Formats: sequence, C-alpha cells, structure tokens
Amino acid sequence: MVTVIQPADPTQFFDDMIGACKPIKRVYRRIDRVAQLEVPVLVTGESGTGKELVAQSIHRRSNRSSGPFLAVNTGAISRDLIASELFGHERGAFTGAEDRKKGFFERAAGGTLFLDEITTMDSKTQISLLRVLEAKELRRVGGRELIRTDVRVIAATNQDLQKSIQNGTFREDLYHRLNVFNIKLPPLRKRKDDIPVLVSHFAKVYADKFGKKVLEIDPEAMTLLTTYSWPGNVRELENVIANSMVMVQTGTLMSVHLPSDFRNPSVSRGKMTLEMGLTLEEVERRYITETMKSLNGNKTLAADSLGISRKTLYNKLNKTGES
Ligand SMILES: Nc1ncnc2c1ncn2[C@@H]1O[C@H](COP(=O)(O)OP(=O)(O)OP(=O)(O)O)[C@@H](O)[C@H]1O
Ligand SMILES: [Mg+2]
Repeated sequence: MVTVIQPADPTQFFDDMIGACKPIKRVYRRIDRVAQLEVPVLVTGESGTGKELVAQSIHRRSNRSSGPFLAVNTGAISRDLIASELFGHERGAFTGAEDRKKGFFERAAGGTLFLDEITTMDSKTQISLLRVLEAKELRRVGGRELIRTDVRVIAATNQDLQKSIQNGTFREDLYHRLNVFNIKLPPLRKRKDDIPVLVSHFAKVYADKFGKKVLEIDPEAMTLLTTYSWPGNVRELENVIANSMVMVQTGTLMSVHLPSDFRNPSVSRGKMTLEMGLTLEEVERRYITETMKSLNGNKTLAADSLGISRKTLYNKLNKTGES
C-alpha cells in the first residue's frame, strides 16, 4: 500500500514531538508529571532521539514558560572560557575581558537552562557547577558579589553516565544533583511503529520547502525505511528524507530516491565476526542468517542485499532449514 504524504494528526503529536507508540507516550507522561515542579531533570538517550525537544517541552509546560529557555553545549566551549560562559565575568577578570558579561545562568534567570552533553564537562567546571546548584548563588569570574540564581536546570547526555562515574570522569555528587528526575528517550529502532508517521511528516515538510509535488511514498521505499536500524535516530531519518526529496522530481518517492545505503542495505547494518577454520558452506550459512536477521526476515531485501535472486535465496534457506 502506498503511504499518502500528510502532516501528522494531533493525536500523534506532543508539543513538537511526533510519535504515539508506547515507549514515547511514557516519555510524554513523564514530561507532563514533572514540568510544573521546580526539580532538575536529566534527559538521557542516544544522539538524535530528541533530548532537546524534551527540554523545550518541559520548559513550555512549566511555570517558567514566560522566561527564557537557553541551551548550552558545555563540550563545545573551550575549557578556558567555560566558567565565564556559564557564570559570567567582571571587567578585567582576564585578558580580553573588556566588559562585564553575564553568563548563561544569569541570562536564563526566570527561565530554564538546558545543559547539553554534560559528560564532556571537565572536573573543575563540574565542581563549580555543583557549588552553584547547591548554594543557588554564583560569583562571576573575577567578581566578589554573590548573585542569586533563579534557573531550572535540565541536563542531557547521550553517554552512559554510570560508566563515566565508574571511570572517574563524572562526579557522582553532581550526578545526583542533576538526576532528581530522569527521562530516558528510546532509540528509534525500539519504536519502529512511529517510523511511517515520522517519514510522512518530514516528507511533507521537505516537499513543501522544496516546492515539489510529491504526494506518496512507495511501499518498497517505506519497507526499507522501517527496517533500517537508524543509528542516528530521528535526526538521521530527517536527513534521509530531506536528501530523498532533493532526488525525487514529482509524484511518488521510491526506493531509488533513497541514499545508496538503503538500496544496498547490508552495507550500513553493522559487522559480523567469523572465527577462522570454518568451511565456506558454514560461512555462507551464517552470513545469510545474519543478513536475514538484520533485515527483519525480509527475503526480498535480503536477496537484493546478497545480490542473488529470491529463488536462489529460498533454495539456500531450504538447504539450511531456515526458510
Ligand atoms: N519525536 C520527534 N518528532 C519530531 N522531530 C524529532 C523528534 N525527535 C527528534 N526530532 C528532531 O530530530 C533532531 C534531533 O533532535 P534533538 O536535537 O532534540 O536530539 P538530541 O537527542 O538532543 O541529539 P544529540 O544528542 O545529538 O544532541 C531535531 O531536528 C529534532 O527536531
Ligand atoms: Mg542535543
């Protein structure tokens, strides 16, 4: 069946987030529960799963919604500057500090400060941050005056924080300060039911943006999109659809419009390890099994990926008793 390209309907939306499968609805419920409370929230999940969207949604639903929402990626700021970026500095605090400058904490007053990629924070910054969160006061770099902070902090990471604590790169006390309430975003491969609606949504967005009359998605293209493992999650899906919209002229988005990885799916589906000493027959059997697994048992895609006909694949599967 072709998929008609259309915007997601309101039942599939939560603020700017699209999806209505069980694991994402659980996320929506947790956002709703915690938004109005003045507690810090830690958002975890793989890259591209929508951590920033969650932070924005919490802000929008909080009592601070009329205040600012500021996002800062501490890992992207050089170590020398990070304290002054977060807490501000006084004039003459260091070479180049020609004027007094307010940091993120002061500029986000009355609102929400989103601290992204917290695991990349160096240990000195972690200590300063912990102090500020505990005391709810800060001193600008080179300053004496104690300034009360008035921010709600939402932190995010795509790393395993427990591991960072174990290997000593992240402070456990800071972790407990930030992780009063945790929201864990599922990777896209764990919410495959949402893929068609996400595909359709982004197809509509990019068809409109590029002024193309593309109205449908061909079933084969949709199968490729739904069986892919999406290591880059929703961000990757959006990019793939944007790319495909560049390629298609009009009418139906087909599998030929998808990036080449999709037409030769096994390329992007990871690796397998084979110990030496196997017979060629055994190697073939294992390779076919793994290819089938990675394509969710789809024989058409597996045959394509292996470069053999479906009939040959059936014969081989029959021989190994896996059909
Ligand atoms: N559920 C969703 N519905 C619609 N768009 C989404 C959804 N989740 C993510 N996106 C989009 O995917 C992109 C990545 O989202 P976001 O920046 O929030 O991810 P992230 O988890 O912060 O990633 P990273 O760890 O790489 O910073 C954005 O363009 C965002 O709008
Ligand atoms: Mg992010």
